[in-house]
Amino acid sequence: MEVRVFDDAVSLGRFAAEQVLDAIAAKPDAVIGLATGSSPLSLYAAWAELARERGTDLSAVRGFALDEYAGIDPAHPESYHSVIAHEVVTPVGLTPEQVFVPSAEATEEAAEAYEQAIAAAGGVDVQILGIGRNGHLGFNEPGSALDSRTRRVALTAETIEDNARFFDSAADVPTEAITQGLGTIMDARKLVILAVGEAKAAAVAAAIEGPVTEAMPASIAQRHPNVVYVLDRAAASLLS
Ligand code: GLP
Repeated sequence: MEVRVFDDAVSLGRFAAEQVLDAIAAKPDAVIGLATGSSPLSLYAAWAELARERGTDLSAVRGFALDEYAGIDPAHPESYHSVIAHEVVTPVGLTPEQVFVPSAEATEEAAEAYEQAIAAAGGVDVQILGIGRNGHLGFNEPGSALDSRTRRVALTAETIEDNARFFDSAADVPTEAITQGLGTIMDARKLVILAVGEAKAAAVAAAIEGPVTEAMPASIAQRHPNVVYVLDRAAASLLS
């Protein structure tokens, strides 16, 4: 496991974007796993910039989002369909056809179809990840099986509270989601895990230095052969 610590969002985003761009340079039809949340925003900005600088052709790249709220209207501005479109597809310069997001219907069939779509694309080459305050990856909350696959899940009170900032009130946050499982995420050939800010420091320290346990979903990444943590100083502050 590699841990890189940066002083500012620009250099952090640039380093993380280089992991993505290097994969695309090696394989123009690379499959990139996409994450929502504030942590990867500097990566997406740098991805667009670096692609322009290097003249990278992104037309064959495919993207798969980690998760979506269950039951949300995909047209809702806070659905991950919308967020991925606004924060990734448009700024990076992809087309909507290149990017897949799990169905908000969150049925067993939808979950199975998503697993099959990832497999049919050849699997994920680089998975971009944020980390929740409680150590969740995607919407794999504490207690998620370490070998779980794409499925419908219930959100914890903490996650609903954290995500309430995007909605009118906590009561408007969907209480369930569909998410790639920890086993699905672990199948990616490389993991790039971003964390920014003091609120993530405890989860980052536990995930990197604590035991591998369902209580800390991100700890599973210790068992991945190719993972890089990309942190700012605040998120790294509790690492020994
Ligand atoms: C959401 C997403 C996660 C994301 C997390 C952290 O709950 N489902 O995939 O990692 O938020 O978000 P942020 O980066 O904004 O802290």
